[in-house]
Amino acid sequence: MGIGKGLTSYGDSEFSLFIRRVFSKSMGLTDTDLQRPVVGICNTWSELNSCHRHFREVAEAVKRGVWQAGGLPLEFPTISLGEIFLSPTSMLYRNLMAMDTEEMIRAQPLDGVVLLGGCDKTVPAQLMAAASANIPTIMVTGGPMLSGYYQGDRLGACTDCRRFWMEYRAGSLSEEELRILEGALCPSAGHCMVMGTASTMASLTEALGMSLPGCAAIPAPLSERLRLAEESGRQIVALIERDIRPAQIMTPEAFENAIRVLMAIGGSTNAVIHLVAIAGRLGIPLPLDRFDALSRETPVLVDIRPSGRFHMEDLAEAGGIPAVMKVLAPLLHLQALTVTGKTVGENLQAFPVSRGREEVIASLEKPFQPEGGLAIVRGTLAPEGAVIKQSAMSPQFFHHRGRAVVFSSIADLAARIDDPNLEIGPEDIMVLQNAGPVGAPGMPEAGFLPIPKKLLQQGVRDIIRISDARMSGTAFGSVVLHVSPEAAVGGPLALVQTGDEIELDLPHRRLDLLVSEAELQARRARWKPPERPYQRGYGRLFLDHVLQAHQGCDFDFLTAHP
Ligand code: FES
Repeated sequence: MGIGKGLTSYGDSEFSLFIRRVFSKSMGLTDTDLQRPVVGICNTWSELNSCHRHFREVAEAVKRGVWQAGGLPLEFPTISLGEIFLSPTSMLYRNLMAMDTEEMIRAQPLDGVVLLGGCDKTVPAQLMAAASANIPTIMVTGGPMLSGYYQGDRLGACTDCRRFWMEYRAGSLSEEELRILEGALCPSAGHCMVMGTASTMASLTEALGMSLPGCAAIPAPLSERLRLAEESGRQIVALIERDIRPAQIMTPEAFENAIRVLMAIGGSTNAVIHLVAIAGRLGIPLPLDRFDALSRETPVLVDIRPSGRFHMEDLAEAGGIPAVMKVLAPLLHLQALTVTGKTVGENLQAFPVSRGREEVIASLEKPFQPEGGLAIVRGTLAPEGAVIKQSAMSPQFFHHRGRAVVFSSIADLAARIDDPNLEIGPEDIMVLQNAGPVGAPGMPEAGFLPIPKKLLQQGVRDIIRISDARMSGTAFGSVVLHVSPEAAVGGPLALVQTGDEIELDLPHRRLDLLVSEAELQARRARWKPPERPYQRGYGRLFLDHVLQAHQGCDFDFLTAHP
């Protein structure tokens, strides 16, 4: 334990310890400090990650707690992934961040670690790393932004970024209004404040038992978050003393709790991929059908955008994720262990019954929607499954048969979407190919295909869209995502042609391409995989090893059983 753990290989361990103490003292540390257990604080602050701009202050609060409890806090950086600042997509780098984090936890003399994450891919990357490194760990998520305001309207990033952009494209919002909105949509520190991927993953971190109760929803700028960070600093020392590790917390039961919470909050589709990847690090299978089964028996309890009306600060006021879990308690595994050192049930006992915000968190008897937010469909177009956020789609499309309008790539989509000669009607189904893990590559959030301008101008605001891409958790609409296997590896999506008929039957969880098997065979014989955009470096590693969406898009050699 302590600074003498995992010595550098010089062939003389006493010398290795001596030289480590020498260099530790160069930081001003004393013999008293060096007797303490070492707590790494993994700080992903970066000026290229706006969602983490307050992390230096959060890290200081964690340090205070670690010192108070008798530990030695040592802060270190890793890669940080700012969703909006990465090209071609942050998802290409989630596994790189997971590797960086895992290896730094393992290579450095840490007895425990506090992980600071927030923006979309950072939290899953850190949880994947925590699962594999498996030393005592607490996550402190960064918290959501406060709401923005414009002409009396409450704004939520980035649901409203997308909504206003759609209105701008439709011609109903001026350039000048758009510029004003630029300064209003993200008014404070923190991650997106609707139930996008960041808020979802923060909520699921709490549901998994990997952060202190209440952590997910407290807005980033509030002092309450700093107090929770300080408490997390004290608690990590307690976890080290009791040797409680992530593998004891992230059990099959904990994942089921997380899936229940995902459904109850109308959370992001991206969470399906991330939970499968985190569980994969621990050798826990999470088939997509399990998500669907739990969704069918878990109602939507939180009225939050993009599926509902409220924002994360309302959820915080209503009691946050502990209040949601309190309502869900009859459906949860209450004996699951958490980073408090207590079980979910014990944590919830300490939580007040209700804060009287029934308009934000409903009861099990009177939920906002009878089934969970997400559904899994399968069929001839998606043999390994596809994901739909049913809570955010238009009911008229629950069962729909339409003519496919196919775009062969993201570039093809960009080139033709606003072509006045594009033949498309509101009943048609837009299909995007080659935007999956291998195809794009990196499975970007291109699944929320823009509605063609000519349809927008006719007043159309939703249309069925199908792809092997992902969608931002802040987006909404009738969008079928994560079609697996993807087009670029020869999945049936690659064989769809404009004019084919597709049937989406959500009640029966079906997604079918209504083309004869003989015709599909002929098309398959002619099919060629797209060119690989990377021949070297990390891009090459990614293409060679990334798993398909239904397997979590981790690298095959990083799972528990490679
Ligand atoms: Fe970071 Fe939305 S851009 S959470």
